Amino acid sequence: MRDPGGLGGEVPQRLSEAEEIARRKAEHLKLAAEGDVETRTAAGWDDVQIVHDALPDVDAADVDLRVRFLGRTLELPLVISGMTGGHGRALAVNELLARVAEKRGIAMGVGSQRAALRDPMLVPTYSVVRQSAPHAFVIANLGISQLVKQDREEALGAREIGQIIAMVKADALAIHLNYLEESVQPEGQTRARGALAAIRALTRRATVPVIAKETGAGITRDVALRLRRAGVRAIDVGGVGGTSFAAVEALRAAAQSDSARMSLGNRFRDWGVPTAVAVAGVGAVGLPVIATGGVRSGLDAAKALALGATLVGVGRPLLQAALRGESEVLRWVDDFALELRTAVFLAGVHRAADLARVPRVLTGEVKLWIDQLGYTRARTSRTTRTIRSR
Ligand SMILES: Cc1cc2nc3c(=O)[nH]c(=O)nc-3n(C[C@H](O)[C@H](O)[C@H](O)COP(=O)(O)O)c2cc1C
Repeated sequence: MRDPGGLGGEVPQRLSEAEEIARRKAEHLKLAAEGDVETRTAAGWDDVQIVHDALPDVDAADVDLRVRFLGRTLELPLVISGMTGGHGRALAVNELLARVAEKRGIAMGVGSQRAALRDPMLVPTYSVVRQSAPHAFVIANLGISQLVKQDREEALGAREIGQIIAMVKADALAIHLNYLEESVQPEGQTRARGALAAIRALTRRATVPVIAKETGAGITRDVALRLRRAGVRAIDVGGVGGTSFAAVEALRAAAQSDSARMSLGNRFRDWGVPTAVAVAGVGAVGLPVIATGGVRSGLDAAKALALGATLVGVGRPLLQAALRGESEVLRWVDDFALELRTAVFLAGVHRAADLARVPRVLTGEVKLWIDQLGYTRARTSRTTRTIRSR
């Protein structure tokens, strides 16, 4: 396979558009794995405490970590966040992560598949996921910018959407909302008018459930309600607290000596809603919620579930582990499961999903955000009913 994004090969004088995308994706992978790219603002887990139950009525070994998500059962409430595909190095990373998803019964997303539509030679870097994980819940991926006509690019049509889903025999399709990244990226696409209508049109014709997914700036309750009305079936809140794509793009801009974009990226590194706050807000909307952005342990996951998440998504730590080898990824997932099991046990409930109704205490910044956005009212069933009927 050609390897335009191999990082290390000769850079041709003039790259085709597909090669440019591939090169950018390879840069993302390298910078996200090795660079200083995490937000300075925390995801908020330190401001969320699950109240200890000194007398649990369950054996720790009997705690059930399985969850239901969009009609399927996962062994753990964990999805390997969509990260890569579309360049040479991505093939091995996706293959390895998919093997782990299959072994541990967890879900997995792929990175944006736009590159493979441009260059069919890149299809294997995505389809390897389904080959290596025949039973896993696999999530296809496309950016919102590809659904809206841009200055130099038409919106994708039904045929291409079908190709994307078929490429990984996807169980769901994630549309990533990444306007922060597009705003900072030197080649970013920021035409956004009509985006919600495009999502509505997509959910009507897509053959699999559509998930709306932020990539680090978070989703509020109001946006989630609009997405739900547009037919979206789950929301990945992708909040502040983990990988910052503004920081990743700032590093890329620095390498291109684009000082304006570099300083824009650094300025907006922490822009957005912290993940814990986003989960608390979106959890009341009545759709399954994926908590992504700075989830770094099974205990973080327990807190996300206590705030209303159905699953958590993990990106950068699993990418870094994957680059060290499969045993590292397996160890990460197994440590995560043990921590989550311990938290469920000590909260005095039987199932991970029961965390949604255990007592928890909110402090600090998370409480301030939640109070000021009016999310405190969310957990009364009356408010939930009102929101659901809107
Ligand atoms: C190298 C890399 C590439 C990514 N590419 C995509 C992408 O193509 N589509 C997408 O929806 N999210 C993408 N993401 C975002 C992740 O899915 C996730 O939302 C983000 O990394 C936050 O999670 P974390 O803090 O655990 O890393 C990417 C993340 C990384 C690290």
